[in-house]
Amino acid sequence: MTTCAEWNLRYQTVTDIPNPCQVLYENVHLLPASGVALDLACGLGANAVWLAQHGLETFAWDYSSVAIGRCREYVVTHHPNLLEEGRHLLHLEVRDVITFPPPPNTFDVMVVCRFLERRLIPDIVAALKPGGMLFYQTFTRALVSAGGPKNPEYRLAENELLKMFQELQVVAYREEGEVGDKTRGFRNEAMLVARKALSGIHSQEFKA
Ligand SMILES: C[S@@+](CC[C@H](N)C(=O)[O-])C[C@H]1O[C@@H](n2cnc3c(N)ncnc32)[C@H](O)[C@@H]1O
Repeated sequence: MTTCAEWNLRYQTVTDIPNPCQVLYENVHLLPASGVALDLACGLGANAVWLAQHGLETFAWDYSSVAIGRCREYVVTHHPNLLEEGRHLLHLEVRDVITFPPPPNTFDVMVVCRFLERRLIPDIVAALKPGGMLFYQTFTRALVSAGGPKNPEYRLAENELLKMFQELQVVAYREEGEVGDKTRGFRNEAMLVARKALSGIHSQEFKA
């Protein structure tokens, strides 16, 4: 497992903020027009900045102080409007999300990208408000090219995202594995967009 100190080291040598993850920009039409969002384990905060630019009040948490510092520098230089007094759309915080998981019933949107901590699943579901949207994307064990964690424990088994969040209503799901032309498509990862029921828990049972 990569430690916080190792993440800090990695982020010291990174120069560019990456693009937002595919599950977000492919599904931008599924975002609410307003609300409160969380980018959990945000790294350099690309997803958080993107959500804030789309008008959501966005919290970005990561335990790497270097990553959060880099994101802050980037925002101050390129998007200072997101930090303006009175219009504060982006809240960057150094936070260990396992020790301090998100509180229940807080977020309209949650994004988790390339971070897999199965212990947090109940907290993630609970942290969504009724009707809240989860955007999750991370590495699968089925892979067509190198990249991502080497330990299979930190990669998703087949259809695992669907099973992890079976309490939620699936809005979009994509996992291409090794099917078809492996040089094209969305590979090495799975993505899920899912919604928390407006009241109660989404029922898995179909009652005729
Ligand atoms: C592969 S990076 C992904 C970063 C970002 N979500 C992205 O897609 O660019 C994984 C991130 O998880 C963070 N992380 C790992 N364990 C964490 C924890 N317990 N609390 C907060 N952040 C954590 C690391 O610091 C790192 O930034």
